[in-house]
Amino acid sequence: MPSMTPYVPQSLPRPDLDYGRIIRKVGLANAALARYDGLLQSVINPSILLSPLTNREAVLSSKIEGTQATVDEVLEYEAGIDFGGEKAQDIQEIVNYRKALVLATEALAERSLSLSLVCQMHAVLMDSVRGANKTPGQFRVDQNWIGSAGCTMEQATFVPPSPLQLRDHLQAWEAYLTADDFDPLVQVAIVHAQFELIHPFKDGNGRIGRLLIPLFLFQKRVLGSPMFYLSDYLESHRDLYYARLRGISQEKDWESWIEFFLEAIVEQAHANTKKVREILALYEQMKHRIMELTRSQHAILVLDALFDRPIFQSSDFVLRTGILKTTALPCLQKLRKAGILHPLREKSGRRSAILAFRELLNCAEGRDVL
Ligand SMILES: Nc1ncnc2c1ncn2[C@@H]1O[C@H](COP(=O)(O)OP(=O)(O)O)[C@@H](O)[C@H]1O
Ligand SMILES: [Mg+2]
Repeated sequence: MPSMTPYVPQSLPRPDLDYGRIIRKVGLANAALARYDGLLQSVINPSILLSPLTNREAVLSSKIEGTQATVDEVLEYEAGIDFGGEKAQDIQEIVNYRKALVLATEALAERSLSLSLVCQMHAVLMDSVRGANKTPGQFRVDQNWIGSAGCTMEQATFVPPSPLQLRDHLQAWEAYLTADDFDPLVQVAIVHAQFELIHPFKDGNGRIGRLLIPLFLFQKRVLGSPMFYLSDYLESHRDLYYARLRGISQEKDWESWIEFFLEAIVEQAHANTKKVREILALYEQMKHRIMELTRSQHAILVLDALFDRPIFQSSDFVLRTGILKTTALPCLQKLRKAGILHPLREKSGRRSAILAFRELLNCAEGRDVL
Protein backbone atom coordinates (compact mmCIF):
# COMPACT_ATOMS: atom_id res chain seq x y z
CA MET A 1 0.00 0.00 0.00
CA PRO A 2 1.34 3.43 -0.89
CA SER A 3 1.73 5.51 2.22
CA MET A 4 0.23 8.99 2.33
CA THR A 5 2.78 10.36 4.72
CA PRO A 6 5.90 12.00 3.32
CA TYR A 7 8.61 9.55 2.36
CA VAL A 8 11.75 9.39 4.47
CA PRO A 9 14.75 8.56 2.27
CA GLN A 10 17.06 5.76 3.39
CA SER A 11 20.66 6.54 4.25
CA LEU A 12 23.40 6.13 1.63
CA PRO A 13 25.33 4.07 0.77
CA ARG A 14 22.94 1.16 1.15
CA PRO A 15 24.81 -1.36 3.30
CA ASP A 16 22.51 -4.28 2.53
CA LEU A 17 22.46 -4.44 -1.29
CA ASP A 18 22.28 -7.95 -2.71
CA TYR A 19 25.33 -7.74 -4.94
CA GLY A 20 25.02 -11.39 -5.92
CA ARG A 21 21.89 -10.44 -7.83
CA ILE A 22 23.38 -7.53 -9.76
CA ILE A 23 27.03 -8.43 -10.19
CA ARG A 24 26.68 -9.89 -13.69
CA LYS A 25 24.91 -6.78 -14.96
CA VAL A 26 27.52 -4.59 -13.27
CA GLY A 27 30.19 -6.32 -15.36
CA LEU A 28 28.22 -6.07 -18.59
CA ALA A 29 27.40 -2.41 -18.09
CA ASN A 30 30.99 -1.49 -17.29
CA ALA A 31 32.26 -3.32 -20.36
CA ALA A 32 29.71 -1.72 -22.67
CA LEU A 33 30.33 1.75 -21.31
CA ALA A 34 34.12 1.36 -21.49
CA ARG A 35 33.81 0.47 -25.16
CA TYR A 36 31.66 3.52 -25.78
CA ASP A 37 34.04 5.77 -23.87
CA GLY A 38 37.00 4.46 -25.89
CA LEU A 39 35.25 5.58 -29.05
CA LEU A 40 34.27 8.90 -27.46
CA GLN A 41 37.90 9.56 -26.49
CA SER A 42 38.93 9.17 -30.12
CA VAL A 43 36.59 11.94 -31.27
CA ILE A 44 38.64 15.10 -31.74
CA ASN A 45 35.94 17.64 -30.97
CA PRO A 46 33.08 15.76 -29.37
CA SER A 47 31.01 18.77 -28.32
CA ILE A 48 30.67 19.82 -31.96
CA LEU A 49 30.71 16.51 -33.72
CA LEU A 50 28.33 14.85 -31.32
CA SER A 51 26.03 17.81 -30.78
CA PRO A 52 23.25 15.80 -32.48
CA LEU A 53 23.39 13.38 -29.54
CA THR A 54 23.08 16.22 -27.07
CA ASN A 55 20.16 17.74 -28.94
CA ARG A 56 18.43 14.40 -28.98
CA GLU A 57 18.98 13.93 -25.26
CA ALA A 58 17.51 17.37 -24.53
CA VAL A 59 14.42 16.51 -26.58
CA LEU A 60 13.89 13.03 -25.16
CA SER A 61 14.54 13.90 -21.52
CA SER A 62 12.01 16.70 -21.82
CA LYS A 63 9.56 14.41 -23.59
CA ILE A 64 9.35 12.00 -20.63
CA GLU A 65 6.98 14.33 -18.79
CA GLY A 66 5.24 15.59 -21.89
CA THR A 67 7.27 18.42 -23.43
CA GLN A 68 6.49 17.94 -27.08
CA ALA A 69 8.90 19.23 -29.67
CA THR A 70 11.22 17.46 -32.09
CA VAL A 71 14.91 17.94 -32.75
CA ASP A 72 14.26 19.59 -36.10
CA GLU A 73 11.76 22.01 -34.54
CA VAL A 74 14.34 23.02 -31.94
CA LEU A 75 16.96 23.59 -34.62
CA GLU A 76 14.52 25.48 -36.83
CA TYR A 77 13.62 27.69 -33.89
CA GLU A 78 17.27 28.42 -33.24
CA ALA A 79 17.71 29.25 -36.92
CA GLY A 80 15.03 31.90 -36.54
CA ILE A 81 11.81 30.19 -37.63
CA ASP A 82 8.86 31.44 -35.58
CA PHE A 83 6.82 29.11 -33.43
CA GLY A 84 3.96 30.35 -31.32
CA GLY A 85 2.31 29.48 -28.01
CA GLU A 86 2.83 26.16 -26.30
CA LYS A 87 5.25 24.91 -28.93
CA ALA A 88 7.59 27.87 -28.45
CA GLN A 89 7.57 27.22 -24.70
CA ASP A 90 8.29 23.53 -25.16
CA ILE A 91 11.18 24.41 -27.44
CA GLN A 92 12.50 26.96 -24.95
CA GLU A 93 12.63 24.29 -22.23
CA ILE A 94 14.58 21.99 -24.51
CA VAL A 95 17.04 24.74 -25.39
CA ASN A 96 17.39 25.43 -21.66
CA TYR A 97 18.10 21.77 -20.96
CA ARG A 98 21.06 21.89 -23.31
CA LYS A 99 22.23 25.17 -21.79
CA ALA A 100 22.13 23.65 -18.30
CA LEU A 101 24.27 20.75 -19.51
CA VAL A 102 26.82 23.11 -21.06
CA LEU A 103 26.91 25.24 -17.92
CA ALA A 104 27.50 22.22 -15.69
CA THR A 105 30.12 20.75 -18.01
CA GLU A 106 32.07 23.99 -17.91
CA ALA A 107 31.69 24.24 -14.14
CA LEU A 108 33.09 20.73 -13.65
CA ALA A 109 36.43 21.90 -15.04
CA GLU A 110 36.82 23.92 -11.87
CA ARG A 111 34.64 22.45 -9.17
CA SER A 112 32.75 19.31 -8.24
CA LEU A 113 29.11 18.46 -8.50
CA SER A 114 27.31 20.02 -5.59
CA LEU A 115 23.94 21.28 -4.45
CA SER A 116 24.86 24.80 -5.48
CA LEU A 117 25.67 23.63 -9.01
CA VAL A 118 22.40 21.70 -9.09
CA CYS A 119 20.55 24.91 -8.20
CA GLN A 120 22.38 26.83 -10.90
CA MET A 121 21.40 24.20 -13.45
CA HIS A 122 17.80 24.40 -12.29
CA ALA A 123 17.79 28.18 -12.68
CA VAL A 124 18.90 27.78 -16.31
CA LEU A 125 16.44 24.96 -17.01
CA MET A 126 13.48 26.91 -15.64
CA ASP A 127 14.41 30.23 -17.22
CA SER A 128 11.23 30.69 -19.26
CA VAL A 129 7.70 32.00 -19.16
CA ARG A 130 6.42 28.65 -18.02
CA GLY A 131 9.14 28.21 -15.41
CA ALA A 132 8.52 31.58 -13.77
CA ASN A 133 6.22 30.14 -11.08
CA LYS A 134 8.42 27.08 -10.52
CA THR A 135 10.90 28.93 -8.28
CA PRO A 136 13.93 28.53 -10.58
CA GLY A 137 17.13 27.65 -8.77
CA GLN A 138 15.37 27.22 -5.41
CA PHE A 139 14.56 24.12 -3.44
CA ARG A 140 10.89 23.77 -2.65
CA VAL A 141 9.37 25.00 0.60
CA ASP A 142 6.04 23.21 0.12
CA GLN A 143 4.94 19.61 0.33
CA ASN A 144 4.50 18.10 -3.15
CA TRP A 145 3.34 14.72 -4.47
CA ILE A 146 3.31 12.59 -7.59
CA GLY A 147 0.17 11.14 -9.09
CA SER A 148 -2.33 11.61 -11.88
CA ALA A 149 -2.84 15.23 -12.88
CA GLY A 150 -4.73 17.20 -10.23
CA CYS A 151 -4.94 14.34 -7.72
CA THR A 152 -5.02 15.01 -3.98
CA MET A 153 -2.20 14.03 -1.65
CA GLU A 154 -4.32 11.08 -0.48
CA GLN A 155 -4.56 9.79 -4.06
CA ALA A 156 -0.85 10.28 -4.76
CA THR A 157 1.39 7.38 -5.83
CA PHE A 158 4.32 9.01 -4.10
CA VAL A 159 4.69 11.74 -1.49
CA PRO A 160 8.26 13.11 -1.38
CA PRO A 161 9.93 14.15 1.89
CA SER A 162 8.60 16.99 3.96
CA PRO A 163 10.13 20.38 3.07
CA LEU A 164 11.27 20.64 6.68
CA GLN A 165 13.66 17.73 6.23
CA LEU A 166 14.72 18.57 2.70
CA ARG A 167 18.03 20.22 3.61
CA ASP A 168 19.22 17.26 5.65
CA HIS A 169 18.35 14.75 2.95
CA LEU A 170 19.99 16.86 0.28
CA GLN A 171 23.16 17.26 2.28
CA ALA A 172 23.38 13.51 2.81
CA TRP A 173 22.85 13.04 -0.93
CA GLU A 174 25.58 15.58 -1.70
CA ALA A 175 28.00 13.78 0.60
CA TYR A 176 27.23 10.51 -1.22
CA LEU A 177 28.05 12.19 -4.56
CA THR A 178 31.64 12.66 -3.49
CA ALA A 179 31.99 9.31 -1.72
CA ASP A 180 33.20 6.12 -3.41
CA ASP A 181 30.67 3.34 -3.45
CA PHE A 182 31.38 -0.21 -4.60
CA ASP A 183 30.96 0.58 -8.30
CA PRO A 184 30.44 3.94 -10.05
CA LEU A 185 27.62 2.65 -12.25
CA VAL A 186 25.72 1.28 -9.29
CA GLN A 187 26.44 4.55 -7.54
CA VAL A 188 25.05 6.68 -10.36
CA ALA A 189 21.90 4.54 -10.38
CA ILE A 190 21.50 5.29 -6.67
CA VAL A 191 22.39 8.98 -7.09
CA HIS A 192 19.69 9.42 -9.72
CA ALA A 193 17.01 7.51 -7.83
CA GLN A 194 17.66 9.17 -4.50
CA PHE A 195 17.47 12.56 -6.19
CA GLU A 196 14.08 11.66 -7.65
CA LEU A 197 12.91 10.33 -4.28
CA ILE A 198 13.93 13.54 -2.54
CA HIS A 199 12.23 15.50 -5.35
CA PRO A 200 13.75 18.78 -4.14
CA PHE A 201 12.24 21.13 -6.71
CA LYS A 202 8.71 22.14 -7.54
CA ASP A 203 9.30 20.94 -11.10
CA GLY A 204 12.18 19.78 -13.28
CA ASN A 205 13.33 17.03 -10.91
CA GLY A 206 13.33 14.38 -13.61
CA ARG A 207 15.35 16.48 -16.02
CA ILE A 208 17.90 17.65 -13.46
CA GLY A 209 18.24 14.05 -12.23
CA ARG A 210 18.91 12.82 -15.76
CA LEU A 211 21.41 15.60 -16.46
CA LEU A 212 23.33 14.42 -13.41
CA ILE A 213 23.99 11.00 -14.95
CA PRO A 214 26.67 11.96 -17.53
CA LEU A 215 28.03 14.65 -15.22
CA PHE A 216 28.55 12.22 -12.36
CA LEU A 217 30.18 9.63 -14.63
CA PHE A 218 32.46 12.30 -16.04
CA GLN A 219 33.43 13.46 -12.56
CA LYS A 220 34.18 9.86 -11.58
CA ARG A 221 36.36 9.59 -14.70
CA VAL A 222 34.28 6.77 -16.06
CA LEU A 223 33.76 9.00 -19.12
CA GLY A 224 36.28 11.24 -20.85
CA SER A 225 33.53 13.73 -21.63
CA PRO A 226 30.01 14.01 -20.21
CA MET A 227 28.31 12.74 -23.33
CA PHE A 228 26.50 9.59 -22.41
CA TYR A 229 22.75 9.89 -22.19
CA LEU A 230 19.99 7.57 -21.03
CA SER A 231 16.80 9.43 -21.86
CA ASP A 232 16.24 7.50 -25.07
CA TYR A 233 15.94 4.29 -23.06
CA LEU A 234 14.11 5.87 -20.13
CA GLU A 235 11.58 7.50 -22.42
CA SER A 236 10.83 4.29 -24.26
CA HIS A 237 10.55 2.38 -20.94
CA ARG A 238 8.84 5.15 -19.04
CA ASP A 239 6.30 3.02 -17.14
CA LEU A 240 8.95 0.61 -15.94
CA TYR A 241 11.25 3.52 -15.08
CA TYR A 242 8.55 4.98 -12.82
CA ALA A 243 7.56 1.58 -11.42
CA ARG A 244 11.15 0.81 -10.42
CA LEU A 245 11.44 4.17 -8.66
CA ARG A 246 8.17 3.43 -6.90
CA GLY A 247 9.57 0.05 -5.90
CA ILE A 248 12.28 1.77 -3.89
CA SER A 249 9.91 3.92 -1.85
CA GLN A 250 7.23 1.28 -1.44
CA GLU A 251 9.30 -1.89 -0.99
CA LYS A 252 12.87 -0.71 -0.49
CA ASP A 253 13.60 -2.64 -3.66
CA TRP A 254 16.90 -1.09 -4.75
CA GLU A 255 18.09 -4.16 -6.61
CA SER A 256 15.30 -4.10 -9.21
CA TRP A 257 15.95 -0.41 -9.79
CA ILE A 258 19.69 -0.94 -10.16
CA GLU A 259 19.14 -3.87 -12.54
CA PHE A 260 16.84 -1.74 -14.64
CA PHE A 261 19.33 1.13 -14.69
CA LEU A 262 22.29 -1.09 -15.60
CA GLU A 263 20.28 -2.58 -18.44
CA ALA A 264 19.61 0.96 -19.64
CA ILE A 265 23.35 1.63 -19.62
CA VAL A 266 24.10 -1.55 -21.58
CA GLU A 267 21.51 -0.84 -24.25
CA GLN A 268 22.30 2.84 -24.52
CA ALA A 269 26.04 2.22 -24.69
CA HIS A 270 25.52 -0.17 -27.60
CA ALA A 271 23.10 2.12 -29.39
CA ASN A 272 25.30 5.17 -28.86
CA THR A 273 28.42 3.38 -30.02
CA LYS A 274 26.65 2.57 -33.25
CA LYS A 275 25.36 6.12 -33.61
CA VAL A 276 28.72 7.75 -32.95
CA ARG A 277 30.33 5.47 -35.55
CA GLU A 278 27.69 6.52 -38.07
CA ILE A 279 28.20 10.20 -37.33
CA LEU A 280 31.98 9.83 -37.63
CA ALA A 281 31.60 7.99 -40.93
CA LEU A 282 29.34 10.73 -42.23
CA TYR A 283 31.89 13.32 -41.15
CA GLU A 284 34.69 11.59 -43.06
CA GLN A 285 32.54 11.13 -46.13
CA MET A 286 31.43 14.78 -46.06
CA LYS A 287 34.97 15.96 -45.52
CA HIS A 288 36.00 14.46 -48.83
CA ARG A 289 32.91 15.62 -50.68
CA ILE A 290 33.11 19.18 -49.39
CA MET A 291 36.82 19.42 -50.12
CA GLU A 292 36.23 18.21 -53.64
CA LEU A 293 33.22 20.45 -54.24
CA THR A 294 34.58 23.66 -52.80
CA ARG A 295 38.32 23.20 -53.28
CA SER A 296 38.55 25.70 -50.47
CA GLN A 297 40.96 26.15 -47.60
CA HIS A 298 37.84 26.64 -45.48
CA ALA A 299 36.40 23.19 -46.16
CA ILE A 300 36.87 21.92 -42.59
CA LEU A 301 35.49 25.13 -41.12
CA VAL A 302 32.41 24.73 -43.29
CA LEU A 303 32.07 21.08 -42.36
CA ASP A 304 32.32 21.73 -38.62
CA ALA A 305 29.77 24.52 -38.87
CA LEU A 306 27.30 22.13 -40.53
CA PHE A 307 27.80 19.52 -37.84
CA ASP A 308 27.49 22.07 -35.07
CA ARG A 309 24.27 23.56 -36.48
CA PRO A 310 22.64 21.44 -39.14
CA ILE A 311 19.82 23.97 -39.63
CA PHE A 312 20.88 27.57 -40.07
CA GLN A 313 20.40 30.91 -41.80
CA SER A 314 22.99 31.60 -44.43
CA SER A 315 23.68 35.05 -42.94
CA ASP A 316 24.35 33.39 -39.60
CA PHE A 317 26.66 30.90 -41.20
CA VAL A 318 28.78 33.77 -42.51
CA LEU A 319 28.99 35.28 -39.03
CA ARG A 320 29.75 32.02 -37.28
CA THR A 321 32.46 30.79 -39.62
CA GLY A 322 34.02 34.19 -40.17
CA ILE A 323 34.43 33.33 -43.85
CA LEU A 324 33.97 36.29 -46.18
CA LYS A 325 30.43 36.53 -47.49
CA THR A 326 31.69 36.54 -51.07
CA THR A 327 33.31 33.17 -50.45
CA ALA A 328 30.79 31.66 -48.05
CA LEU A 329 27.59 32.16 -50.03
CA PRO A 330 28.87 30.61 -53.28
CA CYS A 331 30.17 27.76 -51.18
CA LEU A 332 26.72 27.15 -49.67
CA GLN A 333 25.31 27.36 -53.19
CA LYS A 334 27.60 24.55 -54.30
CA LEU A 335 26.52 22.40 -51.37
CA ARG A 336 22.89 23.00 -52.28
CA LYS A 337 23.49 22.04 -55.90
CA ALA A 338 25.19 18.86 -54.75
CA GLY A 339 22.14 18.00 -52.63
CA ILE A 340 24.00 18.22 -49.32
CA LEU A 341 22.00 21.24 -48.14
CA HIS A 342 18.27 21.65 -48.58
CA PRO A 343 16.36 24.92 -48.33
CA LEU A 344 13.69 25.10 -45.61
CA ARG A 345 13.05 28.71 -46.51
CA GLU A 346 14.24 30.54 -49.59
CA LYS A 347 15.83 33.95 -49.40
CA SER A 348 13.29 36.73 -49.80
CA GLY A 349 14.07 40.40 -49.56
CA ARG A 350 16.28 40.92 -46.53
CA ARG A 351 15.45 37.56 -44.99
CA SER A 352 18.21 35.12 -45.71
CA ALA A 353 17.63 31.50 -46.67
CA ILE A 354 17.36 28.75 -44.06
CA LEU A 355 19.24 25.62 -45.00
CA ALA A 356 19.29 22.12 -43.57
CA PHE A 357 21.98 19.45 -43.57
CA ARG A 358 19.45 16.69 -43.81
CA GLU A 359 21.73 13.71 -43.80
CA LEU A 360 23.10 14.48 -40.34
CA LEU A 361 19.64 14.99 -38.88
CA ASN A 362 18.41 11.73 -40.32
CA CYS A 363 21.52 9.90 -39.17
CA ALA A 364 21.19 11.22 -35.60
CA GLU A 365 17.50 10.38 -35.41
CA GLY A 366 17.82 7.04 -37.18
CA ARG A 367 14.90 7.92 -39.46
CA ASP A 368 13.93 10.49 -42.06
CA VAL A 369 12.98 13.63 -40.18
CA LEU A 370 13.37 16.11 -43.01
N1 LIG B 1 7.19 7.05 -7.98
C1 LIG B 1 8.19 7.90 -8.17
N2 LIG B 1 9.06 8.16 -7.17
C2 LIG B 1 10.08 9.02 -7.34
N3 LIG B 1 10.32 9.68 -8.48
C3 LIG B 1 9.49 9.48 -9.51
C4 LIG B 1 8.40 8.59 -9.42
N4 LIG B 1 7.76 8.57 -10.60
C5 LIG B 1 8.43 9.42 -11.39
N5 LIG B 1 9.48 9.96 -10.76
C6 LIG B 1 10.47 10.93 -11.26
O1 LIG B 1 9.88 12.22 -11.27
C7 LIG B 1 10.10 12.85 -12.52
C8 LIG B 1 9.03 13.89 -12.79
O2 LIG B 1 9.18 14.94 -11.86
P1 LIG B 1 9.16 16.46 -12.32
O3 LIG B 1 9.58 17.32 -11.18
O4 LIG B 1 7.86 16.77 -12.99
O5 LIG B 1 10.35 16.49 -13.39
P2 LIG B 1 10.32 17.06 -14.88
O6 LIG B 1 9.51 18.34 -14.85
O7 LIG B 1 11.76 17.29 -15.21
O8 LIG B 1 9.72 16.01 -15.74
C9 LIG B 1 10.15 11.70 -13.49
O9 LIG B 1 10.82 12.00 -14.68
C10 LIG B 1 10.89 10.65 -12.70
O10 LIG B 1 12.27 10.83 -12.80
MG1 LIG C 1 7.38 18.30 -14.57
